[in-house]
Amino acid sequence: MFSQAMMTKLVMAVGFLAGAVGAHPRTGHAGPANAKTLYFLTNNAENAVVAIPLDGSGMLSLKGSAVVKTAGAGANGISGATNQSAMPDSLFSQAALTVSDDSLFAVNPGSNTVTMFSLSSSSCAPVRLGSPVPLPAGASFPVTVAASARHRLVCVGTSGGTGGVTCAPFTPGTGISSVGFDALRPFDLQQSTPPVGPTNTVSHVLFNADESLLLATVKGNPATNKTGFLASFPIAASQGQKSIMMVAQSGTKTTPPNTAVLFGSAPIPHSDSVLVTDASFGAAVLSIDHTTTTGLVVAEKSRAVIAGQKATCWAAISPATGTGFVTDVARNLLVEIGLTDGAQTGVLGEIDLSPATSDPGLIDLAAAGTLVYALSPGNGTVGAAISVVDVKMRKLVQHVELAGVGANGNAMGLALGF
Ligand SMILES: *[C@@H]1O[C@H](CO)[C@@H](O)[C@H](O)[C@H]1NC(C)=O
Ligand SMILES: *[C@@H]1O[C@H](CO)[C@@H](O)[C@H](O)[C@H]1NC(C)=O
Ligand SMILES: *[C@@H]1O[C@H](CO)[C@@H](O)[C@H](O)[C@H]1NC(C)=O
Repeated sequence: MFSQAMMTKLVMAVGFLAGAVGAHPRTGHAGPANAKTLYFLTNNAENAVVAIPLDGSGMLSLKGSAVVKTAGAGANGISGATNQSAMPDSLFSQAALTVSDDSLFAVNPGSNTVTMFSLSSSSCAPVRLGSPVPLPAGASFPVTVAASARHRLVCVGTSGGTGGVTCAPFTPGTGISSVGFDALRPFDLQQSTPPVGPTNTVSHVLFNADESLLLATVKGNPATNKTGFLASFPIAASQGQKSIMMVAQSGTKTTPPNTAVLFGSAPIPHSDSVLVTDASFGAAVLSIDHTTTTGLVVAEKSRAVIAGQKATCWAAISPATGTGFVTDVARNLLVEIGLTDGAQTGVLGEIDLSPATSDPGLIDLAAAGTLVYALSPGNGTVGAAISVVDVKMRKLVQHVELAGVGANGNAMGLALGF
């Protein structure tokens, strides 16, 4: 006979299996920690992926880390405020690298290429698959990359020149298809290369939760009345070969009301909604539906206006709390955002990491179990570091300085391998 506890376990196991076929097959695990490796991009001229193993309790273990060259070049955008190389947030983006099952993709903004790696369970070092793959004509300064495990498609957002999105098929363990990246879906940014930002650049490309849409967030520039937008491209079978899925060449652009500088996002599992940051006020939950009859329908479900925010730009969702966490490049804290309805929306709280650490602010972040890992590139004076926060206990549990693995203020992107 089943006991209540066994029934609960069984229900959880079934729930987990149901979750396992979704868009985030490897982020639904329970427990305090479950990721095996943390990755970020140095984005230095000789670009490299840093891989840091995590121990059984999710703590970073720098001793076993690996620095693997992408064989491409990093680069910095230009800060519109200073006319100097942008740093921190050298790319004005979320997801300069991404993990999809056992594949990792990294952008090379200085050489207009993308490098694919294979992840193995026997070694923490990613294995580069062939040479970096060039982007199509007109695509320059790639800043963000998304991969769909379901459709085996990798898509890149570029912020140089016209800016836009380009996609390619890939085969896990083998590489990006020899057909390469397709024609750029242009955004008309009228940028230089490198681009001047952070405004008027591509922020983030991502697939929605059921991987039926490719989304891209693009920042406006309130100072010049340039309107930012959310772009959406449906994924459909190729005309010629029905078994091959493609990202539509033409998409739909929408400016959700009262948004200005849309930035990093996180799809809310098992829903049509996305948590999206906006550097001008905080974050919002948007439901995004792309139907063939009406096109793109975007509705704001809730809004989190963050008091005292400077530039809220990066987002992740914790499987342990079911809430969002967002970071600000100029503030050393995590802000928790409610994702459901009613009272559980808006700003739920803050986890202040000062004075425990003296990082000037946080950028890319990722969640696993009860932990959130957040990258601080520092600011040249303060070095790059990663903060590990237990969001159930609401406190910092580890802070690791990254100078020893060659990381500095250029560092971007953060992803976990499971
Ligand atoms: C920015 O700096 C570049 C060279 O460093 C210079 O050519 C350009 O005129 C400067 N732009 C502005 C707006 O000051
Ligand atoms: C932006 O739009 C406002 C209102 O339409 C106008 O007053 C302002 O002059 C515009 N600014 C620029 C730089 O075009
Ligand atoms: C870097 O950050 C530290 C800590 O927030 C701050 O004290 C320092 O002034 C910053 N340096 C620069 C160059 O911005």
